[in-house]
Amino acid sequence: MSAIQTVDNLDYAFPPKPKPLTDEQKAEYKARIKQLLQDKNAVLVAHYYTDPEIQALAEETGGCVADSLEMARFGRDHDAKTLIVAGVRFMGETAKILTPEKTVLMPTLKAECSLDLGCPPDKFAEFCDQYPDRTVVVYANTSAAVKARADWVVTSSMALELVEHLDSQGEKIVWGPDRHLGGYIQKQTGADMVMWQGACVVHDEFKAKALRDMKKLHPEAAILVHPESPQNIVDMADAVGSTSQLIKASQSLPNDTFIVATDRGIFYKMQQLQPNKTFLEAPTAGNGATCRSCAHCPWMAMNGLVAIAEALEHGGEQHEIHVDPQLAKEAMIPLDRMLAFKK
Ligand code: 13P
Ligand code: SF4
Repeated sequence: MSAIQTVDNLDYAFPPKPKPLTDEQKAEYKARIKQLLQDKNAVLVAHYYTDPEIQALAEETGGCVADSLEMARFGRDHDAKTLIVAGVRFMGETAKILTPEKTVLMPTLKAECSLDLGCPPDKFAEFCDQYPDRTVVVYANTSAAVKARADWVVTSSMALELVEHLDSQGEKIVWGPDRHLGGYIQKQTGADMVMWQGACVVHDEFKAKALRDMKKLHPEAAILVHPESPQNIVDMADAVGSTSQLIKASQSLPNDTFIVATDRGIFYKMQQLQPNKTFLEAPTAGNGATCRSCAHCPWMAMNGLVAIAEALEHGGEQHEIHVDPQLAKEAMIPLDRMLAFKK
């Protein structure tokens, strides 16, 4: 662990980046992983924020590259006995909760998420207990224990729709943990929400003044924003949405150039689908930027080829996801609701 980042009085270490490989080593690891996937009856499930070569490998081997909702669905519905989840830990835990009979491996169990780290289950339960008449809605980027305390789990691709629905039923909401996503949803729906004050270390870094300056340089560009970004960034967006919704917007908007305020891993899919369009990273620089997470999640970056090969070869406590069966049973209820709502 190399450095400490502080968000809302919470200290945690950023992981070291995997060592770069030569092209020859990369080719060797890819061949080994392909063989291991077959031998172990395993499938690679990767998030859009993982490095391009990991996404390409998932595609080449019949796995999936997706947002967190589709990763959960794909893993649940696939026949493979083993899922290897390239993403962050809550994604592996979700896969295990939905399919306890499968072996769920991760390249590293140390791939955290600042939203999960910033929402300790006991503190969140105390927060919820203050509002017994409210429906508890939590983002998928949380631990199994936080999910177990919730009535609903959401991902950013369906959070707005769900809160709209709950609001239309007259329900008041406890929301956690991302304050920016919660604020965006509250503004869009007018729902009555009290919020846990978490934030994503990647999206929290986008800077409005620098984005305005960049837009002046590229007036023809459309701005795409993930709603984990601060409100003043969302306010400048031509499209706001989850990773998959932003990819769709990059296809459907007529612009040839896009400034993208989310993790740069997403450029792989955007560029693949629209090879003639230009995608630019939204700026994280400017006054007040701490910027060690600059537009790339430090934990997503841990999902390298070496770690994937090791997980498939050895499994074990460094790689296999286990979720306490009682917690899993409780967390399954709001997760199932989420998947059924979005069907
Ligand atoms: P998606 O649900 O859009 O995949 O986003 C997950 C995430 O971690 C965003 O930072
Ligand atoms: Fe969590 Fe942010 Fe990384 Fe997404 S990008 S996994 S919200 S730290």
